[in-house]
Amino acid sequence: MQLKNDLIIRAARGEKTERTPVWLMRQAGRILPEYREVRKKIGGFKELVTTPEFAAEVTIQPVELLGVDAAIIFSDILVIPEAMGLPYQMVESKGPWFEKTVSSEKDIDTLRIAQGDDLRYVTDAILLTKKELNGRVPLIGFAGAPWTILSYMIEGRGSKTFSKAKKFLYTEPVLAHKLLDKITRSTINYLQAQIHAGADLIQIFDSWAGILSPAQYHEFSLKYISQICDALTTLPSGEGRGGVSTIGHADPSPALPEGKGVANVPVIVFAKGAFFAREEMSQLNCQVIGLDWNMDITESRRLTGGKKTLQGNMDPCLLYADFATIRKETEKMLRAFGPQRHIANLGHGLYPDINPDNVRCFVDTVKSFRFPVSGLPTEL
Ligand code: CP3
Repeated sequence: MQLKNDLIIRAARGEKTERTPVWLMRQAGRILPEYREVRKKIGGFKELVTTPEFAAEVTIQPVELLGVDAAIIFSDILVIPEAMGLPYQMVESKGPWFEKTVSSEKDIDTLRIAQGDDLRYVTDAILLTKKELNGRVPLIGFAGAPWTILSYMIEGRGSKTFSKAKKFLYTEPVLAHKLLDKITRSTINYLQAQIHAGADLIQIFDSWAGILSPAQYHEFSLKYISQICDALTTLPSGEGRGGVSTIGHADPSPALPEGKGVANVPVIVFAKGAFFAREEMSQLNCQVIGLDWNMDITESRRLTGGKKTLQGNMDPCLLYADFATIRKETEKMLRAFGPQRHIANLGHGLYPDINPDNVRCFVDTVKSFRFPVSGLPTEL
């Protein structure tokens, strides 16, 4: 189906856009009272994630209520550990909790490599969301980066330092690679299934990138993100993909939408805190690099050599400020990125207590801002 608003896709590919597109990490759920109502009706977070009708409903809410230029499928990065054999629970006001964790080679050997079909509830939610969106905006699919997923598998819950996971990298590097490889293969299967179901873009979240040293990041995270990017962007589309050995989902169903190959779905890599890796990330087989608010925009353009579209990077806390401050800072950010190769977003997800009106102010400011044809901003 033809997209009525494809600004984000064009910006991701480095094509000219009439204005800067905008969406927000963690836009579905969290801040919207309308989300909490649906959640209450169905009982809990996991019920919401595993029931395609409800997942589709809350995925579309921010498109209608906030006016963003893309939807992101309502799910969680933790569905992958679950599909591999480690079920999670979402504990009210505490966050994720795993009953079983990984600490030995035996634990890793017991984990299975997830196949696209294992997460049918996600692909069904994508199919339904695409139908209900009816081409209004693109739909973003996502997964956690292998390092971030490994952190949860080792720790069994969130952590400030993730020191148990880091200890594992220092003390059991061979096992860490074995686990990262299994997660990577599961993630590739999963993301390909999302693309087959209709995801128009993919974002990889490396939320805990910033707690690794640059050398560890290179060895234990980027290597695997790179494998995912390669698998998503360089494989032949349609029929040909079935021949790749590590990839399950031998019978991709449903067929890819016409004219859409795995290889032409843009990939966004967001590695929170990995300021030290920006140059190396510009070598990845992806179209977009997400920046957090500590990453200087001009410096990031220089480090990525103009080869990538950049996404970000407003401090989410700005959205606690008054409208005038939000407008001023948002326009400042837009000018710093310039008119092309930018997707406006925050530097991390929305916080739950941010007022939706302030979020709308951010979104509306981006949508009404225009650069003059020369490329210089009007208000300079
Ligand atoms: O972005 C979106 O709006 C789509 C949905 C989405 C959720 N989680 C729903 C969710 C996405 C993209 C995620 C990604 C995710 N999940 C990440 C990476 C992004 C990031 O913020 O760094 C991480 C680290 C997780 C793991 C996770 N899930 C945690 C730590 C928690 C508890 C704290 C919290 O609220 O983030 C969750 C729960 C979760 N995932 C909620 C939502 C809407 C809140 C659950 C609820 O109470 O309804």
